[in-house]
Amino acid sequence: MDGATTPTAATVLILLGPPGAGKGTQARMLEEKFGLVQLSTGDLLREAVAAGTDAGKAAKAVMEAGDLVSDDIVIAILRDRLEEPDCAKGVILDGFPRTTVQADALGALLEERGQSVNAAISMEVQDAAMVDRISGRFTCGNCGEGYHDTFKPTAMSGTCDKCGSTEMKRRADDNAETVAQRLDAYHAQTAPLIAYYERSGALSRIDAMGAIEEIASNLSQVVTKVTA
Ligand code: AP5
Repeated sequence: MDGATTPTAATVLILLGPPGAGKGTQARMLEEKFGLVQLSTGDLLREAVAAGTDAGKAAKAVMEAGDLVSDDIVIAILRDRLEEPDCAKGVILDGFPRTTVQADALGALLEERGQSVNAAISMEVQDAAMVDRISGRFTCGNCGEGYHDTFKPTAMSGTCDKCGSTEMKRRADDNAETVAQRLDAYHAQTAPLIAYYERSGALSRIDAMGAIEEIASNLSQVVTKVTA
């Protein structure tokens, strides 16, 4: 734990930011450092698509187009995941909420559990850099560790540093056209949540344009502070 504060069981962190901001990369690092559980609605939806569930069937084309999946589907998936016992350790929400309807629903779900949002951390980046970040992204198909062709390559070409798997994959929606649509959806529907959480007093901002380790260090300081 590197001497960082251990968050309480009820800790709820939100990582806000456009596609490519580094939400997943940083959430996985925070998960390891603070013993919290990363909840990525993107990952949960991709699992639903792969499993061919009704929610997955409804989400597939929407995700491929770079639009947002309906609030009802995403809220139901998130609600079910929050019920699982490991979430009692505290959670890092990566990619949720993405609309004010989702933010209101999250508030209600947490209130039922006697919890609230400890911090909504806005990862501030420049859109122009996001296409490069996303087009170079690949992930370990076994453990989910994320990499980048230039910014975070594997130590040994084609082999996961974490688990040694050689099964690497790239996402269907990581192409320039879909990324542009995902950025548009972010600015139209998700960016207003920065003001939403500023009003509630939960907002922190972090410069997410630097090196991955530097951002992780700044983020850890914020998390330590809000969970102390
Ligand atoms: P989702 O899976 O959430 O994707 P996203 O928000 O578009 O975010 P990304 O995963 O693309 O980026 P990230 O910020 O996690 O960046 P990463 O750390 O990987 O959503 C996908 C789709 O699902 C949506 O379009 C929507 O259709 C649907 N969906 C999901 N949630 C929904 C919701 N709540 N409501 C409705 N629909 C929903 O980093 C990117 C790359 O950059 C990596 O290769 C990484 O190694 C590299 N990198 C990271 N940080 C740095 C750095 N500081 N410098 C250089 N490179 C870096």
